[in-house]
Amino acid sequence: MRRKLVVGNWKMFGRLARNQALLETVRAETRNFTNVDCAVCVPFPYLSQVQSLLNGSRIAWGAQNMSQHEEGAYTGEVAPGMLQEFGCKYVILGHSERRAIYLESDEAVAEKFESAIKSGLTPILCVGETLAERDGGITEQVVARQLDAVIAKSGVQALAKAVVAYEPVWAIGTGKTATPDQAQAVHAFIRQRVAAADGKVAAGLCILYGGSVKPNNAAELFAKVDIDGGLIGGASLVAEDFAAICSAGN
Ligand code: 13P
Repeated sequence: MRRKLVVGNWKMFGRLARNQALLETVRAETRNFTNVDCAVCVPFPYLSQVQSLLNGSRIAWGAQNMSQHEEGAYTGEVAPGMLQEFGCKYVILGHSERRAIYLESDEAVAEKFESAIKSGLTPILCVGETLAERDGGITEQVVARQLDAVIAKSGVQALAKAVVAYEPVWAIGTGKTATPDQAQAVHAFIRQRVAAADGKVAAGLCILYGGSVKPNNAAELFAKVDIDGGLIGGASLVAEDFAAICSAGN
């Protein structure tokens, strides 16, 4: 039986005082949840703060990107070993905003994925199609390409140590959620694709849905057989909303 996982992606939001208030409330409200794992992925400068606030709690933390390199002359980049020093469990990789705005290729994402696995971090690999791609009927093709790049580089076994997040680009920050059936169909496709390489890895793979998950739609999404939780943007910045979404997974 797969456990549910709810991860907040703060994106480029946060300030010291706000983070503290948010996390103190979320920590208190999720204290008694036993069936759901919760985490927040925060901007790099706040990792130390979040580590002190969440140490000893049920909530894990992580980053939203990292370099594929261990160290070196890479101005502005952050290495996997640095994330480890701040207690990160997770790192989001290949988010559509990274792919679209910072032009991260499937190959670069695969390199980062490989590097995260080697460093003992749990990558949250984001995949998903744009609206044009969905309308063009190539959703599965796009998701397969993004997934296969990682499997080709690291092998299917690496997915046993990773999380996949299906985030249709058209549903991110738009208030347009994929219907539970639309999401389920792609989640099932992802699981089948992995199963073709390794059935056991596929059966254990945690596949999150992301894209306008809110307290009022989380339970319905999480009830689907292949949806193992959520990757939450906007609603993860509102303590009560994030706690309510975690509760839906509990
Ligand atoms: P929203 O929940 O704000 O749509 O963002 C989803 C997302 O991109 C999470 O990574």
